[in-house]
Order: sequence, then structure tokens, then C-alpha cells
Amino acid sequence: MNAPEPRGAGVRLRPEIAALPPYRQGRPAPADGFKLSSNENPFEPLPSVVDAVAAAASTINRYPDATALALRERLAERYGVTADEVLVGAGSVALLAALIQAAAAPGDEVVYSWRSFEAYPGLVTVSGATSVQVPNRPDHGHDLEAMAAAITDRTRVVMVCSPNNPTGAVVTAAAFEAFMAKVPADLLVLLDEAYIEFVRDEASVDGATLLGRYPNLVVLRTFSKAYGLAGLRVGYAIGPGPILDAARATITPLSVTAASTAAALASLEPVAEAELLERVGVIAERRDRVREALLEQGWRIPVAQGNFIWVPAGEATAEVAERLFDAGLVTRAFPPAGIRVSIGEEESVDSLLRILGELVPASQEGHPA
Ligand SMILES: Cc1ncc(COP(=O)(O)O)c(C=O)c1O
Repeated sequence: MNAPEPRGAGVRLRPEIAALPPYRQGRPAPADGFKLSSNENPFEPLPSVVDAVAAAASTINRYPDATALALRERLAERYGVTADEVLVGAGSVALLAALIQAAAAPGDEVVYSWRSFEAYPGLVTVSGATSVQVPNRPDHGHDLEAMAAAITDRTRVVMVCSPNNPTGAVVTAAAFEAFMAKVPADLLVLLDEAYIEFVRDEASVDGATLLGRYPNLVVLRTFSKAYGLAGLRVGYAIGPGPILDAARATITPLSVTAASTAAALASLEPVAEAELLERVGVIAERRDRVREALLEQGWRIPVAQGNFIWVPAGEATAEVAERLFDAGLVTRAFPPAGIRVSIGEEESVDSLLRILGELVPASQEGHPA
């Protein structure tokens, strides 16, 4: 006898949405293990930030300020733009969704490099548009020339991710400017800089230096990574007012809470921010040390400029991730390509290097980085 259909199975939904896998979150870490699967910041929140969140708790019977004006003004001052040129969202992923929806609809195309942030394909499908994925170069960076060549008169958005999640490569400033010169001025370009604060390569693009230069460029940043506020959901976009106004129309209203904006503002206070950026320095140094050690072991780890490294384990991806899991290290496996390992607590480093050191020969052979 056939199993009965689950309740709701017959309800008419958009077939392309019903077929989408739900967002897959990293596995939780065992009690004595380390969660290196979501590119989170391993440091606990600063006491001043916790205090700001606690103070905001006393007003939770009220809706938040829908436009997060205080935070927008603070960011506008920092970036030398007007508050209308800043849009705050419940994480930069909410801003990506709103901007894609503002520009792309069924029949349109969205161009991005692949492999990149795993949320991109789903966000494009939800808008009704079609993804055009341009393969990364062999060094795991964006192939901006091929991306420019992939633009057609159906293209409505191009997304550039620097540093690229999950491979870690950056786009250089020179390459980005050459790319922008080829892109039509009426085509929206989103520069996703979720990990910019961890970048130490001086040749890297820095969206903050490009503001006001292009009528079609929006830069996205977040408090989730360097500022350690992933759990509160707050990110921002900076770009021309009319583009952000369109995204204001598509974004879910009132989704940024007073606690989130209070935490972001507290994180931008000079003493707090200095401490947060010092922590970023510790993570960047740890990342470089881990990468060096893995290169010495024989792993072909690409340049890593975010708070994570890419282990191109190829066909052995699932097996290597399982071995790491058995050692208490939860990572993000993308079989059969590789494993993204977030740079976490210092105490996780020895086990990481020991396990990967044991697995080099079997997993790297025949899988050039
Ligand atoms: C490249 C990239 N962009 C955007 C985001 C979204 O971050 P959030 O929504 O927490 O700001 C992430 C999170 O992992 C990311 O890796």
C-alpha cells in the first residue's frame, strides 16, 4: 500500500520554489567540539554590546525604527555618503534578496561566479530570474572577463563576492575597475564584501573607495562576521539612493530590531571597535598560520582572505569532513569539490592540522588547487 500524501502536498505552490532545498545550516558541534561550519566569529560578544542589547530589551513591546535612522546616519558619516545612500537589513543576505528582487524578474538573468556563496542560487530562483553561473578560475578566484562576457541584454544583476565564500580569493581593485568599465551603466552590480575586514592583501578591491564612482554599484557589508553579531542579523548596503529606494520597497519591513541596531551602534564606538578589529587581526593571523601549515603538508590551499580556508579535497571531501567531525570539528563540506573550514578558536587548530595532515596523500592526488 502506498504511504498517504503528507497534508498540504496537493496545494499549488510555485514548482521552482517547492523544488528548492531549504537553507542548510551547519551541523551543531558536539559539546567538546568546535563549530567551524558557518564562518562565525569565535569570540564572545563584548560586555558593552551585551549591555546595549539588554537596554534595548526594555522597549520590545514597541516596533523598531523602520529605517534604522541612527545606524544609517552613523554609517553614512563613516563612508562619506548621505543616510539615503545606506540601507540596513536583517543581515546582508536580506539585502541581497531585496536588491535582486528589485532588479530581476522572470525572463531576466543574474550573473555570478561559481562556486560562491551558497545562498545566491536560491535568492535568484525566488526572484523568478535565472542564474548564470560563471566557473571560478583554476586558482578559485572570479573570472571577471568571463563574467563580463556572460552579460546579455537579459542580465539585470551581476554579483561579485570578495573575498569569495567559500574559496577565500579576492578580486583585485584593478580587475574590478576593468570589469566595471565593461559593464553597462544601467546594469546593477552588487559587490558582496561580507568578509572585507579580514583582508590583508593590499591589492584587493575595497568598495568603500569606490562609492560615488559608479551609478550602478551597491556595496554590501555585515556586522555578522568581523563584528561578531551573526545572531542578531544586521548588515548594510551602500549605493545610489534610487537603487536602494527600490530595495526599500521589496525588503520585509521592520525586520531589523532595536536590539540589532543598538548592538551595531555599540560596536562602532571607538573603544569597542578597536577591540573588535584587534580580534579580527588575531583571526587573520591564525588563518595565515593554518594555511601555511597546510601548504607545508602538501594541501593546495588557495589564497585565503576571509575568516575561513578552502580545502580542495575533491572526491575525498565527504570522507575528510567525516574524519574532522569524528575529531570534534564541524566543517562545511561541498562534495565533490572541497571543504570550507572557518577559522575558529585557537584550541581547534592542533586537531585540524593533525587530521588534515593524516589525510593529504589520499585526498589531494589528482585534485589540483
Ligand atoms: C559572501 C556572503 N555574503 C553574505 C552573507 C550573509 O551574511 P549576513 O546575512 O549574516 O549578513 C554571508 C554569510 O555567510 C556570506 O558568506
